[in-house]
Amino acid sequence: MPQIWPIGGGKGGTGKSFITGSLGIILAGEGYQTLLIDLDLGAANLHTTIGASNPGRSLSDFINKKVATLNETIVPTPTPNLFIISGAMNNLDIANLAHEQKMRIRREIAKLPYDYILLDLGAGTAFNTIDFFMISNFGIFITTPEPTATENIYRLIRSVYFRKIRQVLDVHHFRTLAKEAEEQNSKATVTNPDLLLGMIKKLDPEKGEMLEQELNTLEFGLVMNQHRNQDNPNIGKFICQIIQKHLALKIQFLGNIAFDENVHLAVVNKRPFLFMSPYARTATDLKECFKKLLTMKDKSSGIPYAVDQVL
Ligand SMILES: Nc1ncnc2c1ncn2[C@@H]1O[C@H](COP(=O)(O)OP(=O)(O)OP(=O)(O)O)[C@@H](O)[C@H]1O
Ligand SMILES: [Mg+2]
Repeated sequence: MPQIWPIGGGKGGTGKSFITGSLGIILAGEGYQTLLIDLDLGAANLHTTIGASNPGRSLSDFINKKVATLNETIVPTPTPNLFIISGAMNNLDIANLAHEQKMRIRREIAKLPYDYILLDLGAGTAFNTIDFFMISNFGIFITTPEPTATENIYRLIRSVYFRKIRQVLDVHHFRTLAKEAEEQNSKATVTNPDLLLGMIKKLDPEKGEMLEQELNTLEFGLVMNQHRNQDNPNIGKFICQIIQKHLALKIQFLGNIAFDENVHLAVVNKRPFLFMSPYARTATDLKECFKKLLTMKDKSSGIPYAVDQVL
């Protein structure tokens, strides 16, 4: 079963595609069979970060039933061991995805024969984005040090957390419990998830226990991208502490990735940055981030980042 890493961020332009492409190149270089899937709603441009030209096939072909399996939309890239499913050609294709189609995509992704599957998700808390986070109990969040980006990342992580809760408790049951909890304690609202969860456990111990166990299997990583010398090096760690405290979620800081003008140049030249500037600080940072990701994986051995039971 593949390890699936959904990669998202609260704000556009933080570097999700750049980091998805770069991690893919590192994984492939380590000999892992790696597949990148562009699930960005608006701007499907993942292929440019790995120096691949626009492939003839895309997710649209699967959505529009031109091909029967997702497997048929996979194309090789110039990097050995690295493959890609390009984003939907027509925004409407993916923006209008019906629930059943989304489930079909998720089921198909889980069956694909790769060691690692990295999902480049769109920015923000759109329903589609959050849904694709549900495919795995692991996830990587990308932010930059700007306050707008860090605020958005907190919002995104909170949305993913609540979506998980709603997945364990059906929506109706969740609403009933949440309403009761708020009646008993006006602070136990969705803006206060830890308190709310505590109340749910009191109101329905069996479901509360199940929920807690499910949330315990979740593990996330946070990357601080486009980090400049003048930026505080500890913001990422700080955000993780806040998230752990308020959401009781396991989230590990994966490191700062330095800002480098050459990233833009690499995109313009359609060459992977890691091949163009292999000794740059940003390249070293990306490799460090990758090492931490693998340690996280080892630590949780026995709990593969598997597809959840909804599938
Ligand atoms: N570490 C970095 N240093 C300098 N520039 C960077 C870095 N990371 C990303 N960029 C630049 O930021 C821009 C946005 O990057 P990217 O497209 O990867 O972001 P994104 O989060 O996928 O955006 P979108 O939300 O539009 O999909 C690109 O022009 C890229 O070259
Ligand atoms: Mg992108």
